[in-house]
Amino acid sequence: MAVSFAKLVPLFQIMLYLTLLLSLNNGTARITSSFIRTEWPSVDIPLDNKVFDIPKGHNAPQQVRITQGDYDGKAVIISWVAPDEMGSSRVQYGKLEKKYDSSAEGTVTNYTFYKYKSGYIHHCLVDDLEYDTKYYYKIGDGDSSREFWFQTPPKIHPDAPYTFGIIGDLGQTYNSLSTLKHYMQSGGQSVLFLGDLSYADRYEYNNVGIRWDSWGRFIEQSAAYQPWIWSAGNHEIEFMPNMGEVIPFKSYLHRIATPYTAAKSTNPLWYAIRRASAHIIVLSSYSPYVKYTPQWWWLREELKKVDREKTPWLIVLMHVPLYSSNVVHYMEGESMRAVFESWFVHSRVDFIFAGHVHAYERSYRISNIHYNVTSGDRYPVPDKSAPVYLTVGDGGNQEGLAGRFLDPQPNYSAFREASYGHSTLEIKNRTHAFYHWNRNDDGNKVTTDSVVFHNQYWSNNLRRRKLKKNHLKPRV
Ligand SMILES: *[C@@H]1O[C@H](CO)[C@@H](O)[C@H](O)[C@H]1NC(C)=O
Ligand SMILES: *[C@@H]1O[C@H](CO)[C@@H](O)[C@H](O)[C@H]1NC(C)=O
Ligand SMILES: *[C@@H]1O[C@H](CO)[C@@H](O)[C@H](O)[C@H]1NC(C)=O
Ligand SMILES: *[C@@H]1O[C@H](CO)[C@@H](O)[C@H](O)[C@H]1NC(C)=O
Ligand SMILES: [Fe+2]
Repeated sequence: MAVSFAKLVPLFQIMLYLTLLLSLNNGTARITSSFIRTEWPSVDIPLDNKVFDIPKGHNAPQQVRITQGDYDGKAVIISWVAPDEMGSSRVQYGKLEKKYDSSAEGTVTNYTFYKYKSGYIHHCLVDDLEYDTKYYYKIGDGDSSREFWFQTPPKIHPDAPYTFGIIGDLGQTYNSLSTLKHYMQSGGQSVLFLGDLSYADRYEYNNVGIRWDSWGRFIEQSAAYQPWIWSAGNHEIEFMPNMGEVIPFKSYLHRIATPYTAAKSTNPLWYAIRRASAHIIVLSSYSPYVKYTPQWWWLREELKKVDREKTPWLIVLMHVPLYSSNVVHYMEGESMRAVFESWFVHSRVDFIFAGHVHAYERSYRISNIHYNVTSGDRYPVPDKSAPVYLTVGDGGNQEGLAGRFLDPQPNYSAFREASYGHSTLEIKNRTHAFYHWNRNDDGNKVTTDSVVFHNQYWSNNLRRRKLKKNHLKPRV
Protein backbone atom coordinates (compact mmCIF):
# COMPACT_ATOMS: atom_id res chain seq x y z
CA MET A 1 0.00 0.00 0.00
CA ALA A 2 2.86 2.36 0.82
CA VAL A 3 4.11 2.04 -2.75
CA SER A 4 0.73 3.07 -4.14
CA PHE A 5 0.66 6.15 -1.94
CA ALA A 6 4.10 7.14 -3.09
CA LYS A 7 3.03 6.90 -6.68
CA LEU A 8 0.57 9.76 -6.30
CA VAL A 9 -2.50 7.86 -7.32
CA PRO A 10 -5.64 9.85 -8.14
CA LEU A 11 -7.34 11.44 -5.17
CA PHE A 12 -10.39 9.20 -5.20
CA GLN A 13 -8.15 6.18 -5.01
CA ILE A 14 -6.38 7.56 -1.95
CA MET A 15 -9.77 8.13 -0.40
CA LEU A 16 -10.61 4.53 -1.14
CA TYR A 17 -7.48 3.39 0.67
CA LEU A 18 -8.34 5.60 3.63
CA THR A 19 -11.76 4.03 3.76
CA LEU A 20 -10.03 0.68 3.70
CA LEU A 21 -7.77 1.62 6.60
CA LEU A 22 -10.71 2.93 8.60
CA SER A 23 -12.60 -0.27 7.92
CA LEU A 24 -9.97 -2.20 9.86
CA ASN A 25 -11.44 -0.71 13.03
CA ASN A 26 -14.99 -1.40 12.00
CA GLY A 27 -15.99 -4.94 11.15
CA THR A 28 -19.11 -3.90 9.34
CA ALA A 29 -17.73 -1.33 6.89
CA ARG A 30 -18.47 -2.25 3.31
CA ILE A 31 -16.55 -1.21 0.26
CA THR A 32 -17.63 -1.03 -3.33
CA SER A 33 -14.64 0.21 -5.22
CA SER A 34 -15.61 2.55 -8.03
CA PHE A 35 -12.30 1.81 -9.69
CA ILE A 36 -12.87 -0.01 -12.95
CA ARG A 37 -9.91 -0.74 -15.15
CA THR A 38 -10.16 -2.47 -18.48
CA GLU A 39 -6.80 -2.12 -20.11
CA TRP A 40 -7.49 -3.83 -23.37
CA PRO A 41 -10.60 -4.83 -25.28
CA SER A 42 -11.86 -8.26 -24.30
CA VAL A 43 -10.75 -10.10 -27.43
CA ASP A 44 -8.65 -13.23 -27.76
CA ILE A 45 -5.01 -12.81 -28.76
CA PRO A 46 -4.59 -13.81 -32.45
CA LEU A 47 -3.25 -17.32 -33.00
CA ASP A 48 -0.05 -16.08 -34.70
CA ASN A 49 1.02 -14.12 -31.57
CA LYS A 50 4.24 -15.37 -29.98
CA VAL A 51 2.45 -16.28 -26.72
CA PHE A 52 1.02 -19.23 -28.65
CA ASP A 53 4.31 -20.20 -30.35
CA ILE A 54 4.64 -23.85 -31.33
CA PRO A 55 7.95 -25.28 -30.06
CA LYS A 56 10.44 -26.10 -32.82
CA GLY A 57 11.15 -29.62 -34.01
CA HIS A 58 9.18 -32.56 -35.35
CA ASN A 59 6.53 -33.67 -32.83
CA ALA A 60 8.02 -31.42 -30.12
CA PRO A 61 6.02 -31.68 -26.87
CA GLN A 62 3.75 -28.68 -26.36
CA GLN A 63 1.20 -27.54 -23.76
CA VAL A 64 3.40 -28.90 -21.00
CA ARG A 65 1.91 -28.66 -17.52
CA ILE A 66 2.08 -30.29 -14.13
CA THR A 67 -0.35 -30.86 -11.31
CA GLN A 68 -0.11 -32.59 -7.94
CA GLY A 69 -0.11 -36.35 -8.47
CA ASP A 70 -1.01 -37.76 -5.06
CA TYR A 71 -2.74 -36.83 -1.80
CA ASP A 72 0.27 -35.38 0.05
CA GLY A 73 2.51 -33.69 -2.52
CA LYS A 74 5.20 -36.33 -3.17
CA ALA A 75 4.12 -36.85 -6.78
CA VAL A 76 3.32 -34.82 -9.88
CA ILE A 77 1.40 -35.64 -13.03
CA ILE A 78 3.21 -34.23 -16.05
CA SER A 79 1.00 -33.69 -19.12
CA TRP A 80 1.83 -32.61 -22.67
CA VAL A 81 0.63 -32.91 -26.25
CA ALA A 82 2.60 -34.54 -29.06
CA PRO A 83 1.11 -32.91 -32.16
CA ASP A 84 2.27 -35.10 -35.07
CA GLU A 85 2.60 -38.68 -33.92
CA MET A 86 2.12 -40.63 -30.73
CA GLY A 87 5.73 -40.36 -29.55
CA SER A 88 6.92 -41.62 -26.19
CA SER A 89 5.03 -41.24 -22.89
CA ARG A 90 8.27 -41.39 -20.95
CA VAL A 91 9.47 -38.70 -18.54
CA GLN A 92 13.13 -38.64 -17.55
CA TYR A 93 13.86 -36.81 -14.32
CA GLY A 94 16.37 -36.24 -11.58
CA LYS A 95 17.78 -33.74 -9.13
CA LEU A 96 20.60 -32.54 -11.38
CA GLU A 97 20.17 -30.53 -14.53
CA LYS A 98 20.61 -32.64 -17.68
CA LYS A 99 21.44 -35.72 -15.58
CA TYR A 100 18.35 -37.80 -15.43
CA ASP A 101 18.79 -40.86 -13.29
CA SER A 102 15.10 -41.83 -13.13
CA SER A 103 12.26 -42.27 -15.54
CA ALA A 104 8.53 -42.94 -15.51
CA GLU A 105 6.15 -44.22 -18.15
CA GLY A 106 2.83 -42.44 -18.76
CA THR A 107 -0.31 -43.04 -20.77
CA VAL A 108 -1.59 -41.45 -23.96
CA THR A 109 -5.06 -40.48 -25.09
CA ASN A 110 -6.65 -38.65 -28.02
CA TYR A 111 -10.14 -37.50 -28.97
CA THR A 112 -12.13 -35.85 -31.71
CA PHE A 113 -14.39 -32.81 -31.35
CA TYR A 114 -16.57 -32.21 -34.38
CA LYS A 115 -13.96 -32.76 -37.14
CA TYR A 116 -11.01 -31.63 -35.03
CA LYS A 117 -8.61 -34.45 -34.11
CA SER A 118 -6.57 -33.78 -30.99
CA GLY A 119 -2.87 -34.42 -30.78
CA TYR A 120 -1.59 -37.26 -28.59
CA ILE A 121 -2.18 -36.18 -25.01
CA HIS A 122 0.32 -37.70 -22.57
CA HIS A 123 -0.14 -37.92 -18.80
CA CYS A 124 2.71 -39.31 -16.75
CA LEU A 125 2.69 -39.83 -12.98
CA VAL A 126 6.08 -39.21 -11.38
CA ASP A 127 5.93 -40.37 -7.78
CA ASP A 128 8.07 -41.17 -4.75
CA LEU A 129 9.66 -37.74 -4.89
CA GLU A 130 11.39 -36.06 -1.97
CA TYR A 131 9.81 -33.03 -0.33
CA ASP A 132 11.25 -29.55 -0.73
CA THR A 133 13.42 -30.58 -3.66
CA LYS A 134 14.02 -29.20 -7.13
CA TYR A 135 13.62 -31.74 -9.92
CA TYR A 136 14.51 -31.39 -13.58
CA TYR A 137 12.57 -33.28 -16.21
CA LYS A 138 12.80 -34.05 -19.90
CA ILE A 139 10.06 -35.13 -22.31
CA GLY A 140 9.88 -35.86 -26.05
CA ASP A 141 12.25 -37.62 -28.38
CA GLY A 142 15.68 -36.80 -29.82
CA ASP A 143 16.25 -33.26 -31.10
CA SER A 144 12.68 -32.28 -30.28
CA SER A 145 12.91 -33.10 -26.58
CA ARG A 146 12.31 -30.33 -24.05
CA GLU A 147 13.48 -29.78 -20.47
CA PHE A 148 11.78 -28.12 -17.50
CA TRP A 149 11.94 -28.16 -13.69
CA PHE A 150 9.69 -27.95 -10.65
CA GLN A 151 10.01 -27.71 -6.90
CA THR A 152 8.22 -30.17 -4.61
CA PRO A 153 6.35 -28.68 -1.63
CA PRO A 154 7.51 -28.97 1.98
CA LYS A 155 6.44 -32.00 3.96
CA ILE A 156 2.92 -31.86 5.40
CA HIS A 157 3.36 -29.85 8.59
CA PRO A 158 1.05 -27.47 10.49
CA ASP A 159 3.55 -24.62 10.27
CA ALA A 160 4.81 -25.21 6.72
CA PRO A 161 4.71 -21.83 4.97
CA TYR A 162 3.39 -21.87 1.42
CA THR A 163 2.09 -19.36 -1.14
CA PHE A 164 -0.81 -20.19 -3.42
CA GLY A 165 -1.90 -18.11 -6.37
CA ILE A 166 -5.60 -17.97 -7.12
CA ILE A 167 -6.78 -17.48 -10.70
CA GLY A 168 -10.23 -17.92 -12.22
CA ASP A 169 -11.93 -17.52 -15.60
CA LEU A 170 -8.64 -16.88 -17.36
CA GLY A 171 -9.23 -17.24 -21.11
CA GLN A 172 -6.64 -16.06 -23.65
CA THR A 173 -6.97 -12.30 -24.14
CA TYR A 174 -4.45 -9.52 -23.54
CA ASN A 175 -6.03 -9.13 -20.10
CA SER A 176 -5.47 -12.86 -19.47
CA LEU A 177 -1.81 -12.37 -20.39
CA SER A 178 -1.54 -9.44 -17.97
CA THR A 179 -2.99 -11.59 -15.16
CA LEU A 180 -0.67 -14.49 -15.95
CA LYS A 181 2.43 -12.25 -16.05
CA HIS A 182 1.51 -10.56 -12.77
CA TYR A 183 0.89 -13.90 -11.13
CA MET A 184 4.30 -15.12 -12.30
CA GLN A 185 5.95 -12.17 -10.50
CA SER A 186 4.01 -12.81 -7.28
CA GLY A 187 6.15 -15.54 -5.74
CA GLY A 188 3.22 -17.98 -5.87
CA GLN A 189 4.33 -21.62 -5.67
CA SER A 190 1.21 -23.29 -7.02
CA VAL A 191 -2.02 -22.13 -8.67
CA LEU A 192 -5.49 -22.86 -7.37
CA PHE A 193 -7.52 -22.57 -10.57
CA LEU A 194 -11.21 -21.78 -10.17
CA GLY A 195 -12.64 -23.10 -13.44
CA ASP A 196 -13.35 -21.67 -16.92
CA LEU A 197 -9.99 -22.29 -18.54
CA SER A 198 -9.65 -21.56 -22.25
CA TYR A 199 -13.09 -20.24 -23.30
CA ALA A 200 -12.57 -22.38 -26.42
CA ASP A 201 -16.32 -23.10 -26.31
CA ARG A 202 -16.90 -19.54 -27.51
CA TYR A 203 -15.72 -20.85 -30.90
CA GLU A 204 -17.39 -23.21 -33.31
CA TYR A 205 -16.44 -26.41 -35.11
CA ASN A 206 -12.70 -27.14 -35.36
CA ASN A 207 -11.74 -23.88 -33.69
CA VAL A 208 -12.89 -25.24 -30.32
CA GLY A 209 -10.04 -27.76 -30.31
CA ILE A 210 -7.60 -25.28 -31.83
CA ARG A 211 -8.26 -22.76 -29.02
CA TRP A 212 -7.77 -25.44 -26.36
CA ASP A 213 -4.35 -26.08 -27.90
CA SER A 214 -3.41 -22.39 -28.02
CA TRP A 215 -4.46 -21.97 -24.38
CA GLY A 216 -2.32 -24.95 -23.37
CA ARG A 217 0.69 -23.29 -25.01
CA PHE A 218 -0.21 -19.94 -23.40
CA ILE A 219 -0.16 -21.16 -19.77
CA GLU A 220 2.90 -23.41 -20.25
CA GLN A 221 5.24 -20.55 -19.15
CA SER A 222 3.87 -21.06 -15.63
CA ALA A 223 2.17 -24.46 -15.60
CA ALA A 224 5.22 -26.45 -16.79
CA TYR A 225 7.16 -25.26 -13.73
CA GLN A 226 4.63 -25.37 -10.90
CA PRO A 227 1.43 -27.32 -10.31
CA TRP A 228 -1.90 -25.86 -11.27
CA ILE A 229 -4.66 -27.40 -9.16
CA TRP A 230 -7.73 -27.67 -11.38
CA SER A 231 -11.44 -27.23 -10.92
CA ALA A 232 -13.94 -27.16 -13.80
CA GLY A 233 -16.42 -24.44 -14.79
CA ASN A 234 -19.35 -24.07 -17.16
CA HIS A 235 -17.08 -23.31 -20.13
CA GLU A 236 -15.67 -26.81 -19.78
CA ILE A 237 -19.06 -28.50 -20.26
CA GLU A 238 -19.07 -28.01 -24.05
CA PHE A 239 -22.51 -29.46 -24.61
CA MET A 240 -22.78 -28.61 -28.32
CA PRO A 241 -25.43 -30.76 -29.96
CA ASN A 242 -25.39 -28.62 -33.12
CA MET A 243 -21.87 -29.95 -33.75
CA GLY A 244 -22.78 -33.46 -32.63
CA GLU A 245 -20.90 -33.03 -29.31
CA VAL A 246 -23.02 -34.08 -26.33
CA ILE A 247 -20.55 -35.63 -23.84
CA PRO A 248 -20.03 -33.10 -21.02
CA PHE A 249 -16.42 -32.08 -20.20
CA LYS A 250 -15.01 -34.08 -23.15
CA SER A 251 -12.03 -31.82 -23.93
CA TYR A 252 -11.38 -31.04 -20.26
CA LEU A 253 -11.33 -34.66 -19.14
CA HIS A 254 -8.95 -35.68 -21.93
CA ARG A 255 -6.59 -32.80 -21.37
CA ILE A 256 -6.62 -32.09 -17.63
CA ALA A 257 -5.34 -34.69 -15.18
CA THR A 258 -6.26 -34.60 -11.48
CA PRO A 259 -5.12 -36.94 -8.67
CA TYR A 260 -8.71 -37.90 -7.85
CA THR A 261 -8.12 -41.57 -7.11
CA ALA A 262 -5.59 -40.66 -4.39
CA ALA A 263 -8.46 -38.93 -2.56
CA LYS A 264 -10.80 -41.92 -3.06
CA SER A 265 -12.92 -39.90 -5.46
CA THR A 266 -14.62 -41.73 -8.30
CA ASN A 267 -14.57 -38.72 -10.63
CA PRO A 268 -11.76 -36.39 -11.79
CA LEU A 269 -14.11 -33.40 -11.39
CA TRP A 270 -14.05 -33.52 -7.57
CA TYR A 271 -11.14 -34.49 -5.32
CA ALA A 272 -8.83 -33.24 -2.59
CA ILE A 273 -5.13 -32.78 -1.96
CA ARG A 274 -2.97 -31.86 0.98
CA ARG A 275 -0.06 -29.54 0.35
CA ALA A 276 2.29 -28.06 2.98
CA SER A 277 -0.13 -26.86 5.71
CA ALA A 278 -3.31 -26.83 3.60
CA HIS A 279 -6.08 -29.32 2.90
CA ILE A 280 -7.68 -28.35 -0.40
CA ILE A 281 -11.06 -29.67 -1.50
CA VAL A 282 -12.11 -29.26 -5.13
CA LEU A 283 -15.82 -29.43 -5.95
CA SER A 284 -17.71 -29.50 -9.24
CA SER A 285 -20.51 -26.95 -9.55
CA TYR A 286 -21.77 -28.77 -12.67
CA SER A 287 -21.93 -32.34 -11.42
CA PRO A 288 -24.70 -33.68 -9.20
CA TYR A 289 -24.20 -32.72 -5.53
CA VAL A 290 -27.59 -33.06 -3.87
CA LYS A 291 -28.04 -35.55 -1.05
CA TYR A 292 -27.01 -39.15 -1.89
CA THR A 293 -25.16 -38.28 -5.13
CA PRO A 294 -21.56 -39.51 -5.53
CA GLN A 295 -20.12 -36.03 -4.94
CA TRP A 296 -22.21 -35.60 -1.77
CA TRP A 297 -21.04 -38.98 -0.37
CA TRP A 298 -17.46 -38.22 -1.26
CA LEU A 299 -17.42 -34.77 0.40
CA ARG A 300 -19.04 -36.20 3.52
CA GLU A 301 -16.18 -38.71 3.86
CA GLU A 302 -13.45 -36.24 2.88
CA LEU A 303 -14.46 -33.73 5.56
CA LYS A 304 -14.06 -36.47 8.16
CA LYS A 305 -10.47 -37.04 6.95
CA VAL A 306 -9.44 -33.41 7.50
CA ASP A 307 -6.91 -33.24 10.32
CA ARG A 308 -6.33 -29.64 11.39
CA GLU A 309 -3.49 -30.74 13.66
CA LYS A 310 -1.57 -31.67 10.48
CA THR A 311 -3.10 -29.29 7.91
CA PRO A 312 -4.58 -26.29 9.75
CA TRP A 313 -5.79 -24.51 6.61
CA LEU A 314 -8.98 -25.87 5.07
CA ILE A 315 -9.70 -24.45 1.61
CA VAL A 316 -12.57 -25.28 -0.74
CA LEU A 317 -12.54 -24.49 -4.48
CA MET A 318 -15.58 -24.39 -6.72
CA HIS A 319 -16.63 -22.49 -9.82
CA VAL A 320 -19.96 -20.91 -8.83
CA PRO A 321 -19.79 -18.64 -5.76
CA LEU A 322 -22.16 -19.36 -2.87
CA TYR A 323 -22.17 -15.68 -1.87
CA SER A 324 -21.88 -12.94 -4.48
CA SER A 325 -23.59 -9.57 -4.73
CA ASN A 326 -22.93 -9.13 -8.43
CA VAL A 327 -25.93 -8.83 -10.74
CA VAL A 328 -24.35 -11.35 -13.14
CA HIS A 329 -24.98 -15.00 -12.14
CA TYR A 330 -26.89 -13.77 -9.09
CA MET A 331 -27.99 -16.67 -6.83
CA GLU A 332 -26.68 -19.39 -9.16
CA GLY A 333 -24.87 -20.88 -6.16
CA GLU A 334 -28.00 -21.12 -4.00
CA SER A 335 -28.68 -24.79 -4.66
CA MET A 336 -25.16 -25.86 -3.64
CA ARG A 337 -25.25 -23.47 -0.68
CA ALA A 338 -28.44 -25.14 0.53
CA VAL A 339 -26.77 -28.57 0.40
CA PHE A 340 -23.26 -27.86 1.73
CA GLU A 341 -23.15 -24.59 3.70
CA SER A 342 -23.81 -26.16 7.11
CA TRP A 343 -20.98 -28.67 6.53
CA PHE A 344 -18.59 -25.83 5.66
CA VAL A 345 -19.55 -23.89 8.80
CA HIS A 346 -19.41 -26.90 11.13
CA SER A 347 -16.06 -27.97 9.63
CA ARG A 348 -14.64 -24.46 10.19
CA VAL A 349 -13.56 -24.07 6.55
CA ASP A 350 -11.14 -21.14 6.26
CA PHE A 351 -11.77 -20.02 2.68
CA ILE A 352 -14.15 -20.83 -0.13
CA PHE A 353 -12.75 -19.61 -3.43
CA ALA A 354 -14.95 -19.38 -6.52
CA GLY A 355 -14.83 -17.80 -9.97
CA HIS A 356 -17.62 -17.52 -12.56
CA VAL A 357 -18.49 -13.88 -11.83
CA HIS A 358 -15.97 -11.73 -13.73
CA ALA A 359 -15.14 -9.42 -10.85
CA TYR A 360 -13.60 -9.57 -7.39
CA GLU A 361 -15.51 -9.86 -4.11
CA ARG A 362 -14.73 -10.78 -0.49
CA SER A 363 -17.37 -11.55 2.14
CA TYR A 364 -17.35 -11.25 5.90
CA ARG A 365 -17.65 -14.44 7.95
CA ILE A 366 -21.37 -15.03 7.60
CA SER A 367 -23.74 -17.94 7.39
CA ASN A 368 -27.33 -18.60 6.50
CA ILE A 369 -27.80 -22.09 7.86
CA HIS A 370 -30.76 -21.48 10.15
CA TYR A 371 -33.03 -20.77 7.24
CA ASN A 372 -35.46 -23.44 6.25
CA VAL A 373 -38.67 -23.27 4.30
CA THR A 374 -40.81 -22.66 7.39
CA SER A 375 -38.47 -20.48 9.47
CA GLY A 376 -38.46 -16.74 9.01
CA ASP A 377 -34.69 -16.16 9.26
CA ARG A 378 -33.57 -15.94 5.72
CA TYR A 379 -30.79 -13.40 5.97
CA PRO A 380 -27.09 -14.22 6.41
CA VAL A 381 -25.88 -13.40 9.89
CA PRO A 382 -22.36 -12.81 11.25
CA ASP A 383 -20.87 -16.18 12.19
CA LYS A 384 -17.33 -16.61 13.53
CA SER A 385 -17.31 -20.27 12.50
CA ALA A 386 -18.16 -19.52 8.88
CA PRO A 387 -15.73 -19.40 5.96
CA VAL A 388 -14.76 -16.24 4.11
CA TYR A 389 -16.14 -16.36 0.57
CA LEU A 390 -13.85 -15.03 -2.13
CA THR A 391 -14.87 -14.57 -5.76
CA VAL A 392 -11.83 -14.31 -8.03
CA GLY A 393 -13.42 -14.70 -11.48
CA ASP A 394 -11.48 -11.81 -12.95
CA GLY A 395 -8.69 -13.59 -14.86
CA GLY A 396 -9.51 -11.66 -18.04
CA ASN A 397 -11.40 -13.77 -20.56
CA GLN A 398 -13.12 -12.52 -23.72
CA GLU A 399 -16.55 -12.12 -22.09
CA GLY A 400 -15.37 -9.00 -20.26
CA LEU A 401 -16.07 -7.74 -16.73
CA ALA A 402 -19.22 -8.07 -14.63
CA GLY A 403 -19.42 -4.42 -13.60
CA ARG A 404 -22.89 -4.21 -12.03
CA PHE A 405 -23.23 -4.96 -8.34
CA LEU A 406 -26.41 -4.97 -6.23
CA ASP A 407 -27.00 -1.51 -4.81
CA PRO A 408 -26.86 -0.91 -1.88
CA GLN A 409 -24.05 -3.32 -1.07
CA PRO A 410 -25.47 -6.13 1.11
CA ASN A 411 -23.95 -6.22 4.59
CA TYR A 412 -22.38 -9.67 4.04
CA SER A 413 -20.15 -8.19 1.33
CA ALA A 414 -16.88 -6.67 2.57
CA PHE A 415 -15.11 -5.58 -0.60
CA ARG A 416 -15.97 -5.70 -4.27
CA GLU A 417 -14.49 -4.33 -7.45
CA ALA A 418 -14.88 -5.15 -11.13
CA SER A 419 -11.30 -5.17 -12.41
CA TYR A 420 -9.06 -7.92 -13.75
CA GLY A 421 -6.53 -9.53 -11.45
CA HIS A 422 -5.58 -12.52 -9.30
CA SER A 423 -5.11 -13.30 -5.60
CA THR A 424 -2.30 -14.70 -3.51
CA LEU A 425 -2.61 -16.54 -0.21
CA GLU A 426 0.64 -16.55 1.75
CA ILE A 427 0.32 -19.08 4.53
CA LYS A 428 2.86 -18.13 7.23
CA ASN A 429 2.24 -20.74 9.89
CA ARG A 430 -0.68 -22.48 11.60
CA THR A 431 -2.27 -19.24 12.78
CA HIS A 432 -1.57 -16.57 10.14
CA ALA A 433 -2.09 -16.18 6.40
CA PHE A 434 -1.60 -12.99 4.39
CA TYR A 435 -4.10 -12.60 1.62
CA HIS A 436 -3.94 -10.14 -1.29
CA TRP A 437 -6.06 -9.40 -4.29
CA ASN A 438 -3.88 -7.87 -6.98
CA ARG A 439 -5.49 -5.76 -9.67
CA ASN A 440 -3.97 -5.49 -13.16
CA ASP A 441 -3.43 -1.77 -13.48
CA ASP A 442 -1.69 -0.13 -16.44
CA GLY A 443 0.57 -3.14 -16.70
CA ASN A 444 1.41 -3.02 -12.98
CA LYS A 445 0.34 -5.39 -10.27
CA VAL A 446 -1.44 -3.30 -7.64
CA THR A 447 -2.36 -4.89 -4.35
CA THR A 448 -5.83 -3.60 -3.68
CA ASP A 449 -7.47 -5.78 -1.04
CA SER A 450 -5.14 -7.05 1.73
CA VAL A 451 -6.29 -9.02 4.75
CA VAL A 452 -4.47 -10.95 7.47
CA PHE A 453 -6.50 -14.08 8.11
CA HIS A 454 -6.41 -16.05 11.34
CA ASN A 455 -6.83 -19.77 11.11
CA GLN A 456 -10.31 -21.01 11.96
CA TYR A 457 -8.99 -23.93 13.99
CA TRP A 458 -5.78 -22.66 15.62
CA SER A 459 -6.30 -18.96 16.14
CA ASN A 460 -8.48 -19.41 19.18
CA ASN A 461 -7.32 -21.84 21.85
CA LEU A 462 -10.68 -21.86 23.57
CA ARG A 463 -12.46 -22.86 20.43
CA ARG A 464 -9.78 -25.46 19.79
CA ARG A 465 -10.37 -27.08 23.16
CA LYS A 466 -14.09 -27.11 22.57
CA LEU A 467 -13.56 -28.78 19.21
CA LYS A 468 -11.26 -31.32 20.80
CA LYS A 469 -13.94 -32.20 23.27
CA ASN A 470 -16.21 -32.95 20.33
CA HIS A 471 -13.49 -35.33 19.06
CA LEU A 472 -12.72 -32.93 16.19
CA LYS A 473 -15.43 -34.52 14.13
CA PRO A 474 -17.24 -32.23 11.73
CA ARG A 475 -20.96 -32.57 12.31
CA VAL A 476 -21.84 -33.88 8.88
C1 LIG B 1 -6.19 -41.86 -31.83
O1 LIG B 1 -4.99 -42.18 -32.47
C2 LIG B 1 -4.98 -43.41 -33.15
C3 LIG B 1 -3.57 -43.72 -33.60
O2 LIG B 1 -3.10 -42.70 -34.46
C4 LIG B 1 -5.99 -43.35 -34.29
O3 LIG B 1 -6.02 -44.60 -34.97
C5 LIG B 1 -7.36 -43.07 -33.69
O4 LIG B 1 -8.30 -42.89 -34.72
C6 LIG B 1 -7.33 -41.82 -32.83
N1 LIG B 1 -8.58 -41.76 -32.10
C7 LIG B 1 -9.33 -40.67 -32.08
C8 LIG B 1 -10.57 -40.73 -31.26
O5 LIG B 1 -9.04 -39.66 -32.70
C1 LIG C 1 -37.05 -24.66 10.71
O1 LIG C 1 -36.74 -23.47 11.43
C2 LIG C 1 -37.53 -23.28 12.58
C3 LIG C 1 -37.21 -21.90 13.13
O2 LIG C 1 -35.81 -21.77 13.30
C4 LIG C 1 -37.28 -24.41 13.58
O3 LIG C 1 -38.10 -24.24 14.71
C5 LIG C 1 -37.60 -25.72 12.91
O4 LIG C 1 -37.25 -26.78 13.79
C6 LIG C 1 -36.85 -25.87 11.62
N1 LIG C 1 -37.30 -27.07 10.94
C7 LIG C 1 -36.48 -28.03 10.57
C8 LIG C 1 -37.11 -29.19 9.91
O5 LIG C 1 -35.27 -27.96 10.74
C1 LIG D 1 -27.28 -7.52 8.13
O1 LIG D 1 -28.45 -6.88 8.50
C2 LIG D 1 -29.48 -7.76 8.96
C3 LIG D 1 -30.75 -6.97 9.11
O2 LIG D 1 -30.51 -5.77 9.79
C4 LIG D 1 -29.02 -8.42 10.26
O3 LIG D 1 -30.00 -9.31 10.74
C5 LIG D 1 -27.76 -9.20 9.95
O4 LIG D 1 -27.22 -9.74 11.13
C6 LIG D 1 -26.72 -8.30 9.30
N1 LIG D 1 -25.69 -9.18 8.79
C7 LIG D 1 -24.40 -8.88 8.91
C8 LIG D 1 -23.46 -9.82 8.26
O5 LIG D 1 -23.99 -7.91 9.49
C1 LIG E 1 2.90 -16.76 12.69
O1 LIG E 1 3.07 -15.78 11.69
C2 LIG E 1 2.73 -14.48 12.12
C3 LIG E 1 2.83 -13.57 10.90
O2 LIG E 1 4.09 -13.66 10.29
C4 LIG E 1 3.63 -14.05 13.26
O3 LIG E 1 3.28 -12.76 13.70
C5 LIG E 1 3.49 -15.05 14.38
O4 LIG E 1 4.37 -14.72 15.42
C6 LIG E 1 3.76 -16.45 13.88
N1 LIG E 1 3.48 -17.39 14.93
C7 LIG E 1 4.40 -18.24 15.36
C8 LIG E 1 3.97 -19.16 16.47
O5 LIG E 1 5.51 -18.28 14.88
FE1 LIG F 1 -18.22 -19.47 -15.46
